[in-house]
Amino acid sequence: AAANGGGRSGSIVAAPLVTEEDFHKKIDVNPPKGTRDFPPEDMRLRNWLFNHFKEVSRLYGFEEVDFPVLETEALFIRKAGEEIRDQLYCFEDRGNRRVALRLELTPSLARLVIQKGKSVSLPLKWFAVGQCWRYERMTRGRRREHYQWNMDIIGVPQVTAEAELISSIVTFFKRIGITASDVGFKVSSRKVLQELLKKYGVPEDLFGRVCIIIDKIEKIPIDEIKNELGFTGMSEDAIEQLLQVLSVKSLDDLEDILGGAGEAIADLKQLFSFAENFGYSEWIQFDASVVRGLAYYTGIVFEGFDRKGKLRAICGGGRYDRLLSTYGGDDIPACGFGFGDAVIVELLKEKDLLPELGQEVENIVCALDKDLQGAAATVATALRDKGQTVDLVLESKPLKWVFKRAARVNARRLVLVGKTEWEDGSVSVKVLSSGEQFQVKLSDLE
Ligand code: HAM
Repeated sequence: AAANGGGRSGSIVAAPLVTEEDFHKKIDVNPPKGTRDFPPEDMRLRNWLFNHFKEVSRLYGFEEVDFPVLETEALFIRKAGEEIRDQLYCFEDRGNRRVALRLELTPSLARLVIQKGKSVSLPLKWFAVGQCWRYERMTRGRRREHYQWNMDIIGVPQVTAEAELISSIVTFFKRIGITASDVGFKVSSRKVLQELLKKYGVPEDLFGRVCIIIDKIEKIPIDEIKNELGFTGMSEDAIEQLLQVLSVKSLDDLEDILGGAGEAIADLKQLFSFAENFGYSEWIQFDASVVRGLAYYTGIVFEGFDRKGKLRAICGGGRYDRLLSTYGGDDIPACGFGFGDAVIVELLKEKDLLPELGQEVENIVCALDKDLQGAAATVATALRDKGQTVDLVLESKPLKWVFKRAARVNARRLVLVGKTEWEDGSVSVKVLSSGEQFQVKLSDLE
């Protein structure tokens, strides 16, 4: 499959011819650029992270969902000119269907909500952890595949939903040792822009496009931003004023500029008030420059950032009350966030907060004699039946080797099956931390 902004290369047509010589050539042992293998040590970290994602979601009463990694291409084509449109891995399958690897989970979630229709009762509180694919320029914390933790609330129009979502991310940060002095959330509302654009007479259907242009402010030269905004029909004056508003960092200043408290200010004030009730005020701040790069957001938007300013956004989300109708469904108020697995690991590394995660098995079971390998299998089964983990030594190995292995896998006990004990229906158990050793009858193994 090829990621191809506009082109259509990369179709699966026919398998290329493989020559005899190709068969014997050593393959490239690296995974494709921008993707990762997960050897055990990396998988342990990934599981640790995902367990926190999942436990926090459950703590908040969310249910887990999942979707296919491969979706129809149409699900990701939106007209607003989003950057991620050019990052799509898409191709034609063998049945001539245009398909794509998912860029994000939200379109699939919207599809499933529409499919379920009235059979589900609202609100839905769903979470998912899944792999997403974006053909991105690689930078620190940005790769071509990443896993995203998403929590979404479908069917709640009130700001309580956004407040609850930010609270869950704060809970997650606290659990892994990240504090409010390490990270924060920049919060704004797209309604701020909506109110401004209305004032400048910009047609409503250009709203999504303007947001996407503004999201690029830190990435491309300001003159290009102004040019692009000019194409939407905004006057130079309006563009200047708009850019000024984006630098506003206090709600009072914003209120002055907007000439009174509209819906945007009301929503934001409510969010800050809930933040106090939840107890995470010190984590959030108003920042008018946050608009986010996805077209579908309609209200409050937020981004998690590291206070040292070294890393890209840690997570991001917001309200998307009109996404469902763009897919032909009935609109239902919705909001959610996506939290990637890459930037957070970078941050944990910087803070020296990465957990030490070794392999852990409870028992190593080893036959002292080749003829006793069947007996060792019986012992392993007895222990596993009791729910204990067992690393069974599958070959005849000297004791020195077994001790080394026990240390490597962090085994707690060494269970040796020797001839004399076994004839008596017993095994020898050595507790590796204390060196304590005793004999146990097979029937007493626990
Ligand atoms: P997003 O801002 O595009 O939003 O991505 C959310 C998070 O995914 C980012 O903040 C970052 O942690 C991670 N991420 C995105 N792209 C990459 C990449 N190339 N490499 C590593 N990590 C990455 C969304 O995707 C929305 N669908 C989130 C959402 C859910 N909004 C409502 N519900």
